[in-house]
Amino acid sequence: MKFFVDTADVAEIRALAESGMVDGVTTNPSLIAKSGRKMSEVIAEICAITEGPVSAEVTATDFAGMLAEGKYLRDIAANVAVKVPLTEAGLRTCRALSNEGTPVNVTLCFSAAQALLAAKAGAAFISPFVGRLDDIAHDGMTLIGDIVQIYRNYPGIKTEVLVASVRHPIHLVQSAKLGAHVATLPPSVIRQLLKHPLTDSGLSAFLADWAKTGQSIL
Ligand code: G3P
Repeated sequence: MKFFVDTADVAEIRALAESGMVDGVTTNPSLIAKSGRKMSEVIAEICAITEGPVSAEVTATDFAGMLAEGKYLRDIAANVAVKVPLTEAGLRTCRALSNEGTPVNVTLCFSAAQALLAAKAGAAFISPFVGRLDDIAHDGMTLIGDIVQIYRNYPGIKTEVLVASVRHPIHLVQSAKLGAHVATLPPSVIRQLLKHPLTDSGLSAFLADWAKTGQSIL
C-alpha cells in the first residue's frame, strides 16, 4: 500500500520524506490556502522533495478553465498529478488530460457510481473521502469496499483507489485490509501509526536490563 501525505506544509513533508514513509503528496485548495504560499511555488518545492505523484488541484469549475489550469499545473514538474473534482466538467478534463498522458486524481468522490465514472474517464487515482462520510454518520469504509470490489471486476480499470479524508489509523488499516492502493494521510495520522505504548514500555525495559550488564555493543 502506498502512503501519501495530505498536506502542503513543506517542513512536514520534508521530515516525513526523510523517514522513507512518503510515496507521494496530495494537496487541495484549502491546504494550499493554509500554507499561505503561492500555489505554483509550493507545488514546485514539494515536487522537488518527493519523486512520487504530487496532486495539485484545479480551481476553475468549467471545462475550458479546468483544462487550461490542469496543463499549467502539470508543467510545473514531471511528477504533478492534476486533481479535478468529480463533476461533469471535471470528468471531461480528466479524459482530455489522461489522453495526453497526464495522471489525474479525481477528488471529492462520495459514491461507487461516481468512482465508476472516474475510472471510465481514465483517472489515475480516485479519491473517496471516508472521513467526511463518517462525519455525517455514513460508513466511509463501505464505500472503499464497494469501489475496490467493482474495480476488481474489470481488469481493464487501472484507476488506483486513493483513500482520502483519513481521520485515524483504523481508517488506514481497514483500507489496507480492503485492498485500497493508496491512503493519503495527514502528518498527525502518520505519526499515530507508529506509536504503541507496549513498544515504548518494552524498549524501556530492554534498555534498563541492558544497562545493568555494563556492556556496550561498540
Ligand atoms: O485532500 C483531500 C482530503 O484528504 C481532505 O480531507 O476531509 O480532512 O479535508 P479532509
